[in-house]
Amino acid sequence: MLNWIERRTGFVSMTKAFLTEDVPGGASYWYVFGSATLFAMIVQIATGIFLTFFYAPSAMTAWESTKYIYDHPFQHFVLSVHYWGASAMIALLFLHLLQVVIWGAYKSPREIQWIVGVLLLLVTMVLGLTGYLLPWDMDAYFASQVAINLTLNVPFIGAWIQQFVQDGTTMGTLTINRFFGLHVWLMPAALVALVGAHLAIFRWNGPAGPPVEDPRPLRKGVFWPDQLFMDTVASLLVLIGVVALALFWPPFLDIKADPTVQFTPYPAWYFLDLFGLLNLVPGNFEIIGAIVIPGIATALLILLPWIDRSTTRVLGSRRFVLWLLGFSLTIIWALTIWSQISIMGKQQQAAASGPPAVAAKEQANLTKSGGSNMNPPSTTAVVSPAAKAGQTVYTQNCSSCHGAGGAGTPGAFPPLAGNPFVTGDPRQVILTVLNGKTGAIQVNGGSYNGTMPPWKSTLSAKDVANVVTYIRSALGSNRASAVTPADVAKLKK
Ligand code: HEC
Repeated sequence: MLNWIERRTGFVSMTKAFLTEDVPGGASYWYVFGSATLFAMIVQIATGIFLTFFYAPSAMTAWESTKYIYDHPFQHFVLSVHYWGASAMIALLFLHLLQVVIWGAYKSPREIQWIVGVLLLLVTMVLGLTGYLLPWDMDAYFASQVAINLTLNVPFIGAWIQQFVQDGTTMGTLTINRFFGLHVWLMPAALVALVGAHLAIFRWNGPAGPPVEDPRPLRKGVFWPDQLFMDTVASLLVLIGVVALALFWPPFLDIKADPTVQFTPYPAWYFLDLFGLLNLVPGNFEIIGAIVIPGIATALLILLPWIDRSTTRVLGSRRFVLWLLGFSLTIIWALTIWSQISIMGKQQQAAASGPPAVAAKEQANLTKSGGSNMNPPSTTAVVSPAAKAGQTVYTQNCSSCHGAGGAGTPGAFPPLAGNPFVTGDPRQVILTVLNGKTGAIQVNGGSYNGTMPPWKSTLSAKDVANVVTYIRSALGSNRASAVTPADVAKLKK
């Protein structure tokens, strides 16, 4: 049987040659990063294909279908594995690259293998970037907007690239479709082709082995079973890690993208350094942070085999390259940490500045309406960002029962507009939304005896704060004070 296959395909001898390949110096756990990255890629392809069975790319369905995935435990688990698998793949790719640089494995005759590797890094980053938009929640929208606007900095063809990825004057269905096409077709196809080339060249050159002056006295090792065993152990550890993260820290889906709300986006961790760089350069020199510095860094990376031309791979004789590496890593770390801190600061500032705006507006409204709650709602009211975000939460979660305008249904669902309870003690309103409500109540002469579901496990503290702010300050003629996420967090305990 094997003979029959061998004569027609050559697969048997190919497999044999592959399994008995020499591993200079013996098998080692140092060599597992490449195969672990490959394994993470396979996990991404498998989970990604599964997700396409549920995801629907359009402005009307992207968030909704993602929400469907989040609402179903198994689908949610697969999505979480895909989410953490992306981080794992990029982290392993960086470790693999780091080791190749430290051991000088990019040197002749492996220059082309190295360049293909750098291209793989770029393709993987684009996969991360395009995947980030697909859930179409607030963060997806605003973080991708930053990225899309950066393409305008590309010399000559910037406007064309921006037009291609966004397709229109604002982000919408066409943008989602472009990102979807890149994320599930073009980039994976490029990835698989490049990985094929990377591995084929690897088979041609063989493993580089440890960085020693003279490789001849190195003991011989074999790929099977020693190295294959270690590679399997490493892949298994990756799988366990990703599954554990997916189970204990699943990602979070924010409210659907709403371009009218102000939002401080948070990029994926592997883009934090670039984000920091952009914040460092003054606005009109954006091109330096967006194109020039990343471009130079990529060019240096590709040209590394020609920058470090000596034939030796011994660490002691390659001080310059190792210093350069240390220097680059320090800058990348510093930018990442700085970026993280500055985004957190901005988010806090936004959370703190939201409510006072409502308070000021409410003051204005009170004077205008003579302090009465019974005036018709002013249709021209400019609502605060928090109330605007709350309106979205309201339409998605509350309007089915309480009505789009908060009028309720007589005998079944109490009105929220013109309801003194809603504009009364904010703490009671928050507690009602968090914990739900049952039992008979009287609102403006009507009696209700239903059950309001609790929201504390479905909505974040921020969502609850926003929706309470909205029903208190902007629904119908209600013009009471806003509440903050901190108020909610206090009562949630
Ligand atoms: C499934 C239907 C339903 C949904 C969805 C719903 N509610 Fe209710 N809500 C009720 C019912 C029924 C009551 C009255 C409970 C009672 O009779 O004690 C109520 C009561 C309330 C009250 C108290 C009113 C009062 O006068 O005591 C508030 C405030 C409220 N809801 C806010 C919200 C908010 C905010 C949301 C969205 C996050 C929401 N509700 C979603 C059905 C719903």
